[in-house]
Parts: sequence; C-alpha cells; structure tokens
Amino acid sequence: MLLQGKRIAIFNVANKRSIAWSIAKSMDAQGASLILGYQNERNKGTVEGLAEELVHEPLAILPCDVAYPEQIEELQESLKDKADTIHGLVHSLAFAPREALQHAYLFTEREQFLTALEISVYSLVALARALTPVFSSQASISTLTYYGSEKVMPNYNVMGVAKAALEASVRYLAHDLGTAGVRVNAISAGPINTVSARGVSGFLDILKVHEQRAPLGRTVEGREVGDTAVFLASDLASGITGEVIYVDTGYNIMGF
Ligand SMILES: NC(=O)c1ccc[n+]([C@@H]2O[C@H](COP(=O)([O-])OP(=O)(O)OC[C@H]3O[C@@H](n4cnc5c(N)ncnc54)[C@H](O)[C@@H]3O)[C@@H](O)[C@H]2O)c1
Repeated sequence: MLLQGKRIAIFNVANKRSIAWSIAKSMDAQGASLILGYQNERNKGTVEGLAEELVHEPLAILPCDVAYPEQIEELQESLKDKADTIHGLVHSLAFAPREALQHAYLFTEREQFLTALEISVYSLVALARALTPVFSSQASISTLTYYGSEKVMPNYNVMGVAKAALEASVRYLAHDLGTAGVRVNAISAGPINTVSARGVSGFLDILKVHEQRAPLGRTVEGREVGDTAVFLASDLASGITGEVIYVDTGYNIMGF
C-alpha cells in the first residue's frame, strides 16, 4: 500500500485504454484516494462508469478542459472542497490536430503548432501553478512523454516538438517547486494503442518495430506505466525530481 493516505488528481481519463486509467487502477490498488478528470461531457459518463471498477470510490470526478483557463482555475476550488490538499498530480493529456500528424513536419501550420503546444505543454505549467496552493508539503507531479521528443518518429511531428518542450518544462518546474517540496517528473512511455496514439499516421507500424527492436521483445503495458506512476508519487521516490523515466521495454537504449 505505497499510496495509502495520499490524495492524487489524475487528468484526464477518456476511456479504458487511456494511460490515465491504467495509472488510476495502479494507484487505486496501492490505496490512493483519487480525483479523476475528464475533458468534456462526452467522456464524463465513461469515466463515471469506469470509476465503479475501482476499489476505493474516487473523491471526485471533475471536468478539466485545459483550453479554458477558467476551468483550470476552478479546479483549485473544487480540489480544496473535495480533498483539502492533494499529494499528487498526474498530467496525462495531449492534443495536436490530426492533420498535423499526417504529413511532413515542414508543413505544420501556425494554428496547429500553437494548439499542440498550448494543450500538451502549457497545460502542465498552468495546472502546476493553479494547484500549488492545494499541494501538500511533499507532493509529486508526473506527466507523460514519448521518445519522439528526442528522435525523429515520422508523422509524430509537432507532438515530438511539444514533448521536447514538455520535458524541458519538467526540469524548470522541478527547479521552481523544489523548495516547496514538490517533485516534478516525466514518464517516457513506449507506444500504447490509445485513441490519441492512433491519431499518428502509421502508429501500428511504430508498435511493430518497437516489438522487434526493444530488448524485452514486446511493447509496454499500461499497467507498467501505471506502476511507475505509483512509484514516482510514493515516498520511495522522494529524492527524484526533474527526471524523464523510460518505461518502454528498453527501446530507447538501442542504436539499431
Ligand atoms: N499512447 C502512447 O503511445 C503514448 C506514449 C507516450 C506518451 N503518451 C502520452 O500519454 C498521455 C495520455 O495519452 P493516451 O495515449 O492515454 O491517450 P488518450 O486519448 O486516452 O488520452 C489523452 C487525453 O488527453 C485529453 N485531452 C485532449 N485535449 C484536451 C484538452 N483540451 N483539455 C483536457 N484534456 C484534453 C483527452 O480527453 C484524453 O483524456 C498523452 O500526453 C500522450 O502524449 C502516450
């Protein structure tokens, strides 16, 4: 029970394949009290249904569309109300217009670029700032990134650029929040078949190549990402901040 007594907010669950849901299940199994987020009314019912599978009833299920700054601000009040303080924040959300993930990066349009960076990167900064007043003295923030931040994954395009900015944001936020006892880390997950991932043209080929080349000879499971999120949110990780932790069955160590 690594997370017994810890209240952790996870943004956002879309469906049962979401990495956020894998993280929720792992954290629930370790005794955490969860606050689950959903982006819009379309996802709300799904998340409420999934929540019934958890051992511990969530403290709250809250809307969080990061395109609306007022919704991020409202979260501070809702969390104060439902949880008093929280010990952890999981940022597991990203978005880029589909067309930007289907042609050469060279043709990324200004609006597509700004949207991808706003939703996938600035949201971490905005959430961290808005929720600082409700963090307990030893809190943890984790976000989800991908190896396309470092190496070219054809069609990942502007999301690769966004993930590079996200990883840099993790380091800057870790510096800013360190003296407040808040740790900030990223999990670099291997490819997992989710709705967002399928938006990247050729994603199924990425899965196949990953399986062939990764030292463990397979792709990663959501549960393995969830279990790493448990570790990062737990007191066992109290000395780790500003890091990118790979949970990718070893793919990133390979040169060929
Ligand atoms: N699936 C993979 O292969 C993989 C690998 C590494 C990292 N990641 C990252 O994991 C995270 C979760 O993605 P996933 O693969 O579970 O896909 P997913 O589609 O299940 O989750 C994406 C989430 O982002 C949310 N979202 C999109 N726009 C939003 C907005 N404006 N406001 C608030 N929420 C918004 C969606 O509602 C959804 O809950 C993302 O950051 C993704 O880049 C995914």
